[in-house]
Amino acid sequence: MQRTLSIVKPDGVEKGLIGEVVRRFEKEGICIVAMRMRRLSRREAEGFYAVHRERPFFNSLTEFMSSGPIVVLVLEGDDVIARNRALMGATDPKKAEKGTIRADFAGNVEKNIVHGSDAPETAETEIRYFFSDLDLVW
Ligand code: CMP
Repeated sequence: MQRTLSIVKPDGVEKGLIGEVVRRFEKEGICIVAMRMRRLSRREAEGFYAVHRERPFFNSLTEFMSSGPIVVLVLEGDDVIARNRALMGATDPKKAEKGTIRADFAGNVEKNIVHGSDAPETAETEIRYFFSDLDLVW
């Protein structure tokens, strides 16, 4: 059993896609064990994406991620990190497989609707960034 962090980004919330994203998780049999809506400050967005600090897109990304409400979720299931990434599709929607969330809805490589942890270690860190053990439904 594995856990991962998912985020419906400000563009996903603005486009009214919270339900659509949740539906795709549930349809896939992925269990949602925590879910919360919130708005990140610029500092909180910078902290979350600290590994990308040196990237040319860091400023724009953190401005975007703090531009409106997001929904953060903890997903649980067998191999859920890879399964969530398969549902999301490639970071760049132009390269994402047909039928994935990003291919279907994303505007560009930055405003790409959803985030998903890429490995067990990052999943652990990212879940801890938003949730405590008490927030998770066991
Ligand atoms: P995410 O999966 O949340 O991880 C890092 C984010 O940075 C990514 O989705 C995009 O939103 C953004 N990103 C990645 N590559 C680029 C890029 N080349 N230009 C702009 N934003 C990017």
